[in-house]
Amino acid sequence: MIPRDALAILLLAMAPVLPAFAASGASSTTVAWTPSDDAIRAENALRQPMPDRASGTSLGTVTCASSTCHGSVLAWDDVVLHNEYTTWARLDRHTRAYATLLTPASVSIARKLGLSTPAHEAPECLACHAYAPPAEQRGERFVLSDGISCEGCHGPAERWVASHTSSDASHAKNLANGLYPTSDPVGQARLCTSCHVGDGDRWVTHRIMGAGHPRLGFEVGTFAALQPPHYAIDADWRQRKGDFSAGRVWALGQLFGAKAMLETLAHPTRGRDGLFPELSAFDCHACHKPMSANRWSPRLGIGPGRVRVNDGHLLMLRAITEAVVPDQAAAFRNEVRGVHAAVSAGQGDPQAALRRLIARLDALVPVLRAQAFDAAQMRAVLQRLIAIGRSGEYSDYAGAEQAYMAIAPLLEQLAADGQLADAAALRPLLARARETLAGEDTYRAERFRAALDALAGAVRTPAGTEG
Ligand code: HEC
Ligand code: HEC
Ligand code: HEC
Ligand code: HEC
Repeated sequence: MIPRDALAILLLAMAPVLPAFAASGASSTTVAWTPSDDAIRAENALRQPMPDRASGTSLGTVTCASSTCHGSVLAWDDVVLHNEYTTWARLDRHTRAYATLLTPASVSIARKLGLSTPAHEAPECLACHAYAPPAEQRGERFVLSDGISCEGCHGPAERWVASHTSSDASHAKNLANGLYPTSDPVGQARLCTSCHVGDGDRWVTHRIMGAGHPRLGFEVGTFAALQPPHYAIDADWRQRKGDFSAGRVWALGQLFGAKAMLETLAHPTRGRDGLFPELSAFDCHACHKPMSANRWSPRLGIGPGRVRVNDGHLLMLRAITEAVVPDQAAAFRNEVRGVHAAVSAGQGDPQAALRRLIARLDALVPVLRAQAFDAAQMRAVLQRLIAIGRSGEYSDYAGAEQAYMAIAPLLEQLAADGQLADAAALRPLLARARETLAGEDTYRAERFRAALDALAGAVRTPAGTEG
């Protein structure tokens, strides 16, 4: 972001276009966020369809890209940065998502799957690698090869494009006009997991992975930090859009990731492949390891020789419930156990067990959304994450991967807040934990567990020891 005085120079350089700019009122609004707006957004974030299923015409990326709107070369932060398009076009992987479907890797995946069209025309690939609303909702300037475009996350612009630049617009009004609620923790978690884990309209099946697609391992906070930033959550963002908490987005991302897995398992057709269930919802290494590995460990109460449900997200939710809503933790754990027992070991009705847990997750959405996820809660989450690992629960790579993606930033945050006695001593220990995750085929749970033991011993508050 450039300083204010530099902004003045830039505005001078733009003088020729300024009248049009002022007339269109293109400067974003500064109307403040109110608690009643929050109630509307909460409802909207839960019910709003994903952008490709939303009503309204998609106008195309060029509509956003003018240099006075979102296509400036430099950021000139009055309210928004104005170089969003430039950042996206130059740096954001979502721009390349469609082009990926033209690579030899995609050609090979499509051939192995026996698709009737090439990958870049196949709905089962375009659903995630492009923004592909129905043909009749594509405006004249809509271009499919733009990949995951602005409207792919912010929703079809027809109904909000005019209002979002009007001088009396508020964020709440834009949302009412159909702007997708990326600013809401529930809205963002649902949006990102809909492609990065999957949903009812898109899924990387075991067949697609078998044909060569990478496994999807996703954590919304980590990925949001990796996405080249085209927005800044700063004081004016909070003033216009309300509170923001990275912990809340993380927790809800875990919830919607877990829910997507469970719904896939429960689905009468998507959840089946011949005699088998959809294997992508299980722990990959339950099957993909040598027979001589002798790696079974008594976990989940389902006995040896059984395929385990991928519980990476569920383990994070266990830590979250134990730390943040302890009154729900025991019921949550029992229902997770019920799913493992029914799905993997035939103890009980799998559909009933899945439905019970999905209903619990649905009920947890507003509960988690209302939590502060303040420093004390996040510290409690960290302790639970480490304790769960030390009790041997991260025996599967998917759980360990999620745990690391949570523990590392939590420790960094505590260090930044001056809440750790010896932050320098922790970095090599974190690096050691990370090394144990370097290759998923060579993952050994006991090494990750040992790394967590070492970490636990070194996490000290300035006042004393914990762990
Ligand atoms: C419409 C589907 C879709 C949505 C919605 C979506 N993504 Fe993506 N994302 C993709 C695809 C597909 C790729 C891979 C692009 C490629 O390289 O071909 C990707 C790539 C990424 C990458 C780069 C990953 C890497 O390995 O470098 C990040 C980071 C990312 N997404 C973050 C996010 C975040 C954060 C959100 C929510 C705000 C989000 N994505 C929403 C489909 C989506
Ligand atoms: C559920 C959403 C989803 C579907 C469906 C999907 N993909 Fe992907 N794909 C992704 C995401 C997300 C990534 C990026 C993974 C990451 O970096 O975490 C990706 C990555 C890839 C990559 C690797 C890109 C790279 O640069 O490493 C290829 C190739 C690919 N997809 C091809 C396909 C093809 C071909 C299809 C259709 C058969 C398809 N995908 C269907 C979400 C999806
Ligand atoms: C992968 C999803 C994704 C894509 C693609 C995307 N955005 Fe965003 N955008 C977000 C998220 C998440 C936020 C932060 C939450 C918010 O402010 O709503 C955001 C915020 C913004 C903001 C608000 C900044 C503020 O301070 O209020 C603007 C403006 C914006 N994006 C414009 C664009 C434009 C223009 C494009 C296309 C060039 C684009 N975005 C593409 C996800 C995306
Ligand atoms: C229930 C057992 C099982 C689970 C769980 C499972 N797979 Fe598989 N996988 C198989 C079988 C069986 C094959 C087919 C092997 C063959 O064709 O020889 C296979 C094939 C594959 C292949 C193709 C390998 C090749 O040599 O062509 C990939 C890649 C793959 N699986 C990835 C995954 C990923 C990623 C996961 C987890 C998300 C996973 N699998 C979960 C049993 C499983």
